[in-house]
Amino acid sequence: LISLRCHQHWLEAKQGFKSEGAIRTGRCCPPSLGKTIQPFVFPSNEKTRVRWPAHKGSEKQVKSYKKAMKAIRELPDNHPHSFVSQAKIHCAYCNGGYTQVDSGFPTIDIQIHNSWLFFPFHRWYLYFYERILRKYSGDDDFALPYWNWDNPEGMTIPQMFVEEKDDDPLFENKNPLFDVYRDTRHLPPKVVDLFFSGAKLANNFADELDSERQKACNLSMVYKDLIRNATDWKGFFGGEYTAGNMTVKPSVGSVESNSHTAVHVWVGDSSKPNREDMGNFYSAGYDPLFYVHHANVDRYDPLFYVHHANVDRMWKLWKDLGIPGHSEPTSEDWLKASYVFYDENENLVRVYNEDSVNINDLKYDFEVSKTPWKNSRP
Ligand code: C2O
Repeated sequence: LISLRCHQHWLEAKQGFKSEGAIRTGRCCPPSLGKTIQPFVFPSNEKTRVRWPAHKGSEKQVKSYKKAMKAIRELPDNHPHSFVSQAKIHCAYCNGGYTQVDSGFPTIDIQIHNSWLFFPFHRWYLYFYERILRKYSGDDDFALPYWNWDNPEGMTIPQMFVEEKDDDPLFENKNPLFDVYRDTRHLPPKVVDLFFSGAKLANNFADELDSERQKACNLSMVYKDLIRNATDWKGFFGGEYTAGNMTVKPSVGSVESNSHTAVHVWVGDSSKPNREDMGNFYSAGYDPLFYVHHANVDRYDPLFYVHHANVDRMWKLWKDLGIPGHSEPTSEDWLKASYVFYDENENLVRVYNEDSVNINDLKYDFEVSKTPWKNSRP
């Protein structure tokens, strides 16, 4: 579906935001190392690494993660593993960097949101991000944390992302998971609002709930996203999006449109023109919670990736419910849709939706966490 002919200037011109006043760059094309695209090879002979709830990391897990984040932040921007390059991947697949040239539609953009491409694209994105971080962590057990916002115990921004300073001399007094572009009203102990929306913002938070009621509401939203509104692939993944489709308005999957977007908007800084970092897709890749990030100088927020690790976990939980209808689309248009990433060895690799379905094959899993939303039918 996708070509690597990325349109740098076109991209900038087409940004959905005014780049004037925007904090992050709109130039999102990946660095070109003159490499040929290779087919993906499943990791074999590898142990399965387990992603962990971000509010419960061990000292070793947190340290490896911070160490890796510090290392990729220090790489030159044009290195494919740099924090900035990783953040730009999201922007390129979202804000019109790629066209459907391989499918014969060179003037139509690729958009990986608002349709059935949402889950598989982000799964692949995190897959490579995690392998890159593992390399720089020097920890063979390294796996990404996930922001466990579906469990009342994990419903605040995980503590490790919050402090600007870090006492460990290894980090030179700076926490590599900190991002300054977050809504300061939403730092812990504030409970995330999985119903959060632009409308609530405009309303200036008039209808805020106390923590306990908020937690209960959040559970009912997760129930809706994984059960009530997700009875088949279309409800969960979103509608068909195929080559040549100009409308770019199929239907949005339950998780993507509800809890996922609510968390983005809730974390982002409402005083910034585009709710950077998490609140706008062009910059979301810069949050270590979508990853994890820094201020002006370093750009973008790490929360993005930790948030998305939980979104990815939602896909697994939805499948594991074992309810008839809870299975992936089977059409070739979905199975054969593909993306291109730099892997941890700086090779360019093409990956297909069909190869993303089984995380056992990708050699990662999620630490089990409570799922009280199963009993929270709204
Ligand atoms: Cu690509 Cu949370 O979005």
